[in-house]
Amino acid sequence: MSNLETERLSLRKPTMTEQYDLWNILRQEKVWQYYMSIPDRFNNDRKAFQESLDDWSKQEKFFKRKIDNAEEDSDKYTWSIFLKNGKVIGQMTVQPNDNYPDNPRIRTVGWFIDPKLQRQGYAYEAARAVLDYMFSQTNLEEIRTEANVVNPGSWGLMEKLGFVRIGESISSHYDIDGNPLKQYNYMINRDMYLTKNKCKIK
Ligand SMILES: CC(C)(COP(=O)(O)OP(=O)(O)OC[C@H]1O[C@@H](n2cnc3c(N)ncnc32)[C@H](O)[C@@H]1OP(=O)(O)O)[C@@H](O)C(=O)NCCC(=O)NCCS
Repeated sequence: MSNLETERLSLRKPTMTEQYDLWNILRQEKVWQYYMSIPDRFNNDRKAFQESLDDWSKQEKFFKRKIDNAEEDSDKYTWSIFLKNGKVIGQMTVQPNDNYPDNPRIRTVGWFIDPKLQRQGYAYEAARAVLDYMFSQTNLEEIRTEANVVNPGSWGLMEKLGFVRIGESISSHYDIDGNPLKQYNYMINRDMYLTKNKCKIK
């Protein structure tokens, strides 16, 4: 996995140094509610989950485990996203798609950006670098992923990147009343990506 540079951003392999700042972004409800599924043990109790998320001493161990396991977990590509001044503003991942366990060339994506810095094109800029890299430097053939209907930030980003909506399904995320959300299903493959975007790397 390579570090990636764009005009305004540096995308780097995660280290423990920036995890505290990332945690402060992730634990905001407007970020985690779509980025994370509430683990079953919380019985869909958002308040209890939020309390657990807010406890850095617990979360630090979880972040550390993820960093320590990154080498073994080499199938999961994760970049921390930094402004050029060194401030971390989010993360982007390309990882195995559980719906296609037998086909590692079909993957899924995940992304979040600090709410204070959203709508400034940072996710798009980072995603272009990540997808240029993934479609040219790895054997990735296709991305299949979902976004909650009520989360136009995520599916709008996908559409701007050239993903195509292929259906609807039920999300693993819930609204504040505990009802499961609907989600759109999207896909893009290598040819579609390269046709839509002028990929710098061949
Ligand atoms: C999804 C997310 C990463 C987008 O980050 P961002 O930096 O704000 O996105 P960008 O500024 O690069 O926007 C790219 C495109 O996405 C769409 N978009 C982004 N935010 C949007 C919003 N709030 N409403 C509608 N469309 C939106 C637009 O089409 C935009 O292009 P445009 O500015 O030319 O219109 C950010 O909203 C986020 O972190 N959300 C919380 C976490 C999350 O939902 N993750 C996805 C689940 S895995």
